[in-house]
Amino acid sequence: MALKLEPGTRLVVATHNPGKARELAEILDGRFELVAAGALGLPEPEETEATFTGNALLKARAAADASGLVALADDSGLSVKALDGAPGIYSARWAGPGKDFAIAIAEVEQRLEERGAKDRSAWFTCALAVAWPFGPAVVVEGRVDGSLQFPRRGTLGFGYDPIFVPQGSAQTFGEMAPKAKDALSHRTRAFEKLKAALL
Ligand code: IMP
Repeated sequence: MALKLEPGTRLVVATHNPGKARELAEILDGRFELVAAGALGLPEPEETEATFTGNALLKARAAADASGLVALADDSGLSVKALDGAPGIYSARWAGPGKDFAIAIAEVEQRLEERGAKDRSAWFTCALAVAWPFGPAVVVEGRVDGSLQFPRRGTLGFGYDPIFVPQGSAQTFGEMAPKAKDALSHRTRAFEKLKAALL
């Protein structure tokens, strides 16, 4: 039997990141009844896998089995070509325990300077995983390409948004209204694939 995610399904969103939770809610656009992992008191599992898809599956599986609900998890990050794809799966960890993205952004800029790198190409990746409690799971990945620009611009979005300019745009994600970012984002592209697989 093909896996289907019925409209109105109660879905636990396995993230403790408010920026991601907000964007996922926007993108899902009322299709499901969303429950936050934090509201259920679910712990944040350690991200021990080496890939976005591996970590998204790990988070969805943990939330589904602990809650008894179908779970949706997002693992995402920024990859910089001149830094050999870093910070990648370590994107959140570069912000330190205080989750301060001014620190993470300064780290990216400093490493580019240390390497004398001129190439500012970068991309965001988003893996979205859906897991059924003690059952099957599906994972997909979306990507948006662009370039980095310093100093940071814009106060919207979250994380690395103020330094990322998507291809074809003059604005950073940090300067874009939510709908404009959603129209281009790695998260939306991943969700389009999830729709094709499950809806
Ligand atoms: P994780 O998936 O919990 O490991 O965290 C992903 C991290 O990647 C976030 O904390 C952000 O720093 C970064 N990130 C992922 N998606 C975005 C985005 O859409 N904009 C800006 N930063 C993002």
